[in-house]
Amino acid sequence: MKKVQKVVIPAAGLGTRFLPATKAQPKEMLPVIDTPTIQYIIEEAVNSGIKDILIITGKDKNAIEDHFDKSPTLENLLRSKGKHELLEQVKDISQLVDIYYVRQKEPRGLGDAVYRARKFIGDEPFAVMLGDDVVRSSKPCLKQMLDLYEETGGSIIGIKEVPGDQVDKYGILNAECVKDKVYRCNDLVEKPAPAEAPSRLAIMGRYIIQPQVFNILARTSAGAGGEIQLTDALKELARKDYVYGYEFEGYRYDVGDKLGYLKATVELALERPDIGEEFSTYLKNIISKIK
Ligand code: G1P
Repeated sequence: MKKVQKVVIPAAGLGTRFLPATKAQPKEMLPVIDTPTIQYIIEEAVNSGIKDILIITGKDKNAIEDHFDKSPTLENLLRSKGKHELLEQVKDISQLVDIYYVRQKEPRGLGDAVYRARKFIGDEPFAVMLGDDVVRSSKPCLKQMLDLYEETGGSIIGIKEVPGDQVDKYGILNAECVKDKVYRCNDLVEKPAPAEAPSRLAIMGRYIIQPQVFNILARTSAGAGGEIQLTDALKELARKDYVYGYEFEGYRYDVGDKLGYLKATVELALERPDIGEEFSTYLKNIISKIK
């Protein structure tokens, strides 16, 4: 069985849910505390043992490339001011992993963005991580999925159960449980109306996919929202090969959504050694005043 060594991170979306902040900067660069959201995703990939990452970018996304590049001017400045801790942090970012970029010329949907990765991936299974889905867990979410992959092969989709009135925000699985937290997926549907959803098992932005998906994506036409959907391609893949759903351990934040972004900021700040304690005292004080 071939190993999963490469990750694709689609980052070509327009970020309309975060306007006006995303008018002149990529949504992936919005910070949760002091770290751009896309860096959390890259760190999860690195902590899962991944060495090569392809980011699918689009127009006006240069800040992402600059962020993961070496920055000699900034490094010299921090060195000359004796700010060694900050210097290490800035250097770390550019040393984390090999990052490659390809552009999606038009925003035609997640399926089309992933299709741009076909030459980089070749004939290997690969992972896809969506930038809006930041996961806080003891073992990195992708690592959990890679460990399961070693046992099962096939393709694996990271899922969580969502309330019935939220199924229309997600790709939803029609699947049967085959062992604790693992489901065999028979069918998928992108953003179904609540009355039509086959379950409440929702796709949470983590995938391990077999390369046959590229042949399918090549002929997948526009689906929900008029976009080429990865979910539609996986639906076809599930008819030909094993596709599993895996309820990963950990909490997932939708940082592309205002409320999800706030929740991530508050909860991750509470865990930070530098500001957590003071922030917790502040929050308790504020909450005691809320009527
Ligand atoms: C995408 C996928 C959807 C998945 C979701 C998870 O939708 O198409 O299947 O459930 O990400 O965040 P988007 O939120 O980009 O519309």
